[in-house]
Amino acid sequence: GVYSFEDSPFIMEILTELRDESTGPIAFRKGLVKLGRYMAYEITKTMATEKVPIRTPLEETEGIIVKDRRNVVIITVLRAAIPLMEGLIKVFEHARVGIVSASRGKAPKFEIEMKYVKVPRIKAEDTVIIADPMIATGSTLIKVLDEVKKYGNAKRYVVVGVLAAPEGITRIKEAHPDVEMFVAAIDRELNDHGYILPGLGDAGDRAFG
Ligand code: PRP
Repeated sequence: GVYSFEDSPFIMEILTELRDESTGPIAFRKGLVKLGRYMAYEITKTMATEKVPIRTPLEETEGIIVKDRRNVVIITVLRAAIPLMEGLIKVFEHARVGIVSASRGKAPKFEIEMKYVKVPRIKAEDTVIIADPMIATGSTLIKVLDEVKKYGNAKRYVVVGVLAAPEGITRIKEAHPDVEMFVAAIDRELNDHGYILPGLGDAGDRAFG
């Protein structure tokens, strides 16, 4: 499934700040951290819960645990996903974290160069969350998913982004039909240089210069 949050006023307010060209790097990174946290909340809504008996200081009652919250691997796609990962890990505090570098070449081929891959072992009960703010042509994520899947078979693969272009979503679905996607919003289109419109510019540059 593909989930986007155009109907969530708070997520849209954060996105508005991220899109605004007058937002500087400090506020931009803060926005990404916030968004990571709220996307993680949304992901927990899709995880199974278990009832557990507990005692309050006054009586016996029942609580819940979200077991899969403890079985998360976060893959951070450099550079722009660093603040997004920081938000995600606030909710998935037990997560193991992998780092992947990917940089996209120029149009029309948009070849992806992956120089660094460090991924923890992936277990059958894991939810693998791949964080990358921008899903433009989808080439980066397809390549990252190809690579990550070599480290074991996970229960779920979830992409978390800020913006996706329809082209990128279609291509990822074709290459990896088992992948779920959580993005703040789906934008209109890609321009000839592979930038999302209206978009927010280059997320890596806006966060880190
Ligand atoms: C950007 C972005 C994604 C990728 C999306 O990274 O952060 O990783 O491009 O494009 P795609 O879906 O067409 O593959 P970039 O290569 O600019 O690196 P950076 O984050 O280090 O600036």
